Amino acid sequence: MDVTFDAGIIIGEMTGEERETVIALWSRCGLTRPWNDPEADVALAEATENATILVARAGERIVGAAMTGHDGHRGALYYLGVDPDQRRGGIGRALVRAAEAWCRSRGAPKVNLLVRSENQTVLAFYAALGYSPTNSVSLYRTLDPERAEQERVEKAAWATAHNR
Ligand SMILES: CC(C)(COP(=O)(O)OP(=O)(O)OC[C@H]1O[C@@H](n2cnc3c(N)ncnc32)[C@H](O)[C@@H]1OP(=O)(O)O)[C@@H](O)C(=O)NCCC(=O)NCCS
Repeated sequence: MDVTFDAGIIIGEMTGEERETVIALWSRCGLTRPWNDPEADVALAEATENATILVARAGERIVGAAMTGHDGHRGALYYLGVDPDQRRGGIGRALVRAAEAWCRSRGAPKVNLLVRSENQTVLAFYAALGYSPTNSVSLYRTLDPERAEQERVEKAAWATAHNR
């Protein structure tokens, strides 16, 4: 599914050999948190036909990546990141458009995404791409109480360390 969007940048699906590079990129982009294990998230995406990880390649180098998927009703976008020294060149937009095309090709008519409350500055990017806030409140319930307790502890430690 490789798509070329600009001179030298090709968007396609991540290979197994690129896994660690992509996770390191997401970390540089501030997308990882101690309570979310990106390796487990990647493994889950790799294990299902309903999700994929797209990468933007400039020659040998991976300069951006995103995870997308659909739940049988809507598409979803996660872990969108472009290397800090490659931003404002259209790579983020191209990754989002590629993820949208992936979701559309599987019948999903809409794409949802979550923006962390501490990441409000990214809203201008999504607005530029035609995304708008919903009138809905996002709810969740853990299906793994043990992990939820660990997450509670890690979130508290992270908030203290980051003055949040
Ligand atoms: C958000 C992110 C992926 C954008 O990637 P990018 O390659 O820089 O974005 P693009 O160059 O495709 O930007 C497309 C348009 O979005 C808007 N935009 C992008 N970054 C913006 C910013 N920081 N402030 C305001 N508008 C912005 C602009 O309209 C831009 O078009 P222009 O450059 O022609 O003006 C990148 O900033 C990033 O990795 N951020 C950290 C990780 C993150 O927050 N991810 C989203 C999690 S929800």
